[in-house]
Amino acid sequence: MSEIRFDGRVAIVTGAGAGIGRMYAMELAARGAKVVVNDLGGSRDGTGASSSAADSVVDEIKAAGGEAVANYDNVATMEGGANIVKTAIDAFGKVDILINNAGILRDRSFLKMTEQEWDLVIAVHLKGAFCVTQPAITAMKANGYGRVIFTSSTSGLYGNFGQCNYGAAKMGVAGIMNTLKLELAKYDIKINTIAPTAYSRMTEDIIDENMGKKLRPQFNSPMVLYLCSEENQATGQIFVMGAGWYGRTAVVSGPGVCIGDAQRDITVEEIRDNFDKISDLEGCKPHDSGTSIFSYMMPLLS
Ligand code: NAI
Repeated sequence: MSEIRFDGRVAIVTGAGAGIGRMYAMELAARGAKVVVNDLGGSRDGTGASSSAADSVVDEIKAAGGEAVANYDNVATMEGGANIVKTAIDAFGKVDILINNAGILRDRSFLKMTEQEWDLVIAVHLKGAFCVTQPAITAMKANGYGRVIFTSSTSGLYGNFGQCNYGAAKMGVAGIMNTLKLELAKYDIKINTIAPTAYSRMTEDIIDENMGKKLRPQFNSPMVLYLCSEENQATGQIFVMGAGWYGRTAVVSGPGVCIGDAQRDITVEEIRDNFDKISDLEGCKPHDSGTSIFSYMMPLLS
């Protein structure tokens, strides 16, 4: 079996000073990549900043014989995103891989959530994905090669109590990916989204410690590194994982039902009478783009 290597590749991992991101950075470097270890070094709720988180991971990588540089910028600003990419280009000449991983939490039930809690979480996860990915893809297009990862969460994909801000941001990154996979289809730039599960600072108070021993951050790395490898040709997909389980998830549409003839009006009662068929997901499938949903309407449109 041939080994998957990243020799000659330059990778940026945001939020790589701890948790899951640290593991990506270490594994990429161990397999030959030159790594930019970005981390603002704040607390779980996004307050504060420190260079020590990124520095310690860079030290670990160097001690193991790898190559890495630290960056302490905030992913949530355009200046920060540009500077993270500039760090890679100044140190290593290019960007091949971007793993958008940085994240914070400000949990609160919907009715109690403040504007600040909403804005901050959206800024780091959703705007942050835009701020770093735009300059990174500009650099990737110049080289005709790239692998990009967005980090979603089951909280956004399926729901979780007290996380409407986080869930919206985490579903939002899949929306960015859905556009980018189309805009970059003609380049060798593959973009995928992952929803990891791990016992980390982010989850240590919600995951039982014993279960946490099995939800090691490391278990997310093999899947993410494969998606970041030259061999991977998948793009625009969402993968969920944890503890050694890996699977694909997708937004799907059921076959639904055609009512009327695209000319006569349709009544509320016809929706009621067809509601079981309309909401049935039997025979559902994912779609490559928004326009592919038109295939369901064809009996009416043609
Ligand atoms: P973590 O809290 O251990 O690590 C996140 C890192 O991001 C921290 O080192 C933090 O300093 C850094 N960071 C935060 N805001 C930043 C900013 N504005 N700019 C640069 N760096 C910043 O969390 P963990 O668990 O490793 O999470 C990594 C990613 O995976 C996050 O996006 C998180 O939302 C996501 N995730 C984690 C899950 C889990 O089970 N741990 C579940 C689903 C998603």
